[in-house]
Amino acid sequence: MEDLTGRRLVVLTGASSGIGLAAAVNLACRGDQVVLVGRDPARLQAAAERVRETSGERPELFRADFAVLDDVRRLAEGLRAAYDRIDVLVNNAGAIALQPLTTVDGFELSIQANHLAPFLLTNLLADRVGRIVVTGSGAHRFGTLDPDDLNAALRRYRPLGAYGTSKQANILFTAEAARRWPGIPAHSFHPGVVRTRFGNDSRVVAFGMRVLPFRSPEKAAETLVWLANQDPARLVGGGYYYNRRLRRPYRKAADPRLAARLWSASAAAVGIDG
Ligand SMILES: NC(=O)c1ccc[n+]([C@@H]2O[C@H](COP(=O)([O-])OP(=O)(O)OC[C@H]3O[C@@H](n4cnc5c(N)ncnc54)[C@H](OP(=O)(O)O)[C@@H]3O)[C@@H](O)[C@H]2O)c1
Repeated sequence: MEDLTGRRLVVLTGASSGIGLAAAVNLACRGDQVVLVGRDPARLQAAAERVRETSGERPELFRADFAVLDDVRRLAEGLRAAYDRIDVLVNNAGAIALQPLTTVDGFELSIQANHLAPFLLTNLLADRVGRIVVTGSGAHRFGTLDPDDLNAALRRYRPLGAYGTSKQANILFTAEAARRWPGIPAHSFHPGVVRTRFGNDSRVVAFGMRVLPFRSPEKAAETLVWLANQDPARLVGGGYYYNRRLRRPYRKAADPRLAARLWSASAAAVGIDG
């Protein structure tokens, strides 16, 4: 599966739908070799077909459920076996959990699927990754992250609070990754309010999506694709972007001490050296 044509290899999680799929199509049309990671096999196949129809490229597919950390470990093994180098890793998979759910690994679903899983995947691949792009969210403003208590949301569950905490973690993770791995450019971004499958199961979120000024997944993917292509020297390492502009996240997602504590707590949670 090694590419001998000199094209970049881009691995995208959450590529079976929405922003991740739109980004995969865009990147493939620009000539990148894209690798799609998804959870639902049928959606993943349909996404691959869409990439093939639009770009002429047949992408490689990997399946993993981020609610299961062993799936993430298998995914990392599979990617390592297939590729000596991953030019861009796009950590985009994410969802809002409407109910308080505990994963098989013992973590609240949002913090695991949206933060701990990509944290583990990135650490397991870091020696082969050229740059990192993370899909964050303006919803980090609703976050109440406590690295000493990653399951805090389970006690008095509010879906937006749990989701916002996981997105706060995405932005802090990106900043700390840039600090720890100066050779790997890492940036996060807010895609805007986007009409995707996100929150489809919730009447409240679905209503919000109808009344809020939403954008298409293709428009939302523009900043992701830009971050994947921009000269890192022109970007702020670990920075948070919106509409291709550097934005200052809320203070709770811009605190380097909190970012360092989150890294240590996350490493302990997934069983790797912090
Ligand atoms: N839509 C918005 O307004 C908005 C705003 C800010 C940030 N975001 C962020 O944008 C990212 C992409 O979301 P989207 O709007 O494009 O929604 P989407 O259409 O629902 O796509 C979400 C993607 O993440 C995957 N995913 C969800 N849970 C997973 C799990 N447990 N394991 C593995 N993969 C999982 C989905 O796989 P399946 O196909 O198997 O479900 C899908 O590929 C997320 O990180 C979200 O937080 C979205």
